[in-house]
Amino acid sequence: MNRRVIWSLWGLAAVLSAGVAIFSYRYLLRVGPLSPDILANLYHRPWLDVHVAGAATALLVGPFQFLARLRTRHRLLHRRLGRLYVVGCLAGGVGGFVMAFGSTAGPIATVGFASLAATWIWANVQAWRLAVARRFDAHRAWMIRSFAMTFAAVMLRLYLPLFPLLGVSFVDGYRAVSFLSWVPNLILVELYLRGAFARRPILVQAAE
Ligand code: HEM
Repeated sequence: MNRRVIWSLWGLAAVLSAGVAIFSYRYLLRVGPLSPDILANLYHRPWLDVHVAGAATALLVGPFQFLARLRTRHRLLHRRLGRLYVVGCLAGGVGGFVMAFGSTAGPIATVGFASLAATWIWANVQAWRLAVARRFDAHRAWMIRSFAMTFAAVMLRLYLPLFPLLGVSFVDGYRAVSFLSWVPNLILVELYLRGAFARRPILVQAAE
């Protein structure tokens, strides 16, 4: 892929991620527009705070981890941000998993969000384990998968306003995005890792 396209995509992803992350912190302070449906989640106390603090921080720092210059010239910073990212994903994942069972949107949303949380936690454990084992190509592949799931928070907020335009009720749209916000991301990333958008495979180890 052309460098300019890659930079534009990175910039767009970073700006959207920072916007959603910073706006999400309002739940920690309980200020600004808060969704009554979310506050009606059976397990929002204390899990919403755990979820938002971890997941929003992961979303904020995640894009920087993809900068090659940061990885090669500032390795200590890359490692520290990487730990913060993984801890954020694990806290966000545990909080998200618990809250999936308290969603007012019912069992379909529960399955969508709980499977996202479990897969997200799994990808981060794999990425961490491979970094410690110094298997950096495989580590990178799992981090790309992880961020594809972290980015679900952005996709969800891009998809949700489209449903009313298609005549779909908010709650049905919400159930749909519990899958739509991450499954297509993971499929695209898997195609990328297997070289579908390049002349040669990006990472042979992607299948690991
Ligand atoms: C990727 C895995 C994620 C999972 C499994 C997940 C799961 C959930 C669940 C189950 C809820 C409650 C939904 C309900 O009660 O119907 C929720 C709400 C929320 N999540 Fe996540 N989430 C994830 C990622 C993120 C990320 C990365 C952020 C960062 C900004 C985030 C921020 C929020 C916020 C702010 C809410 C409150 C609802 C709103 O205003 O939209 N989540 N999440």
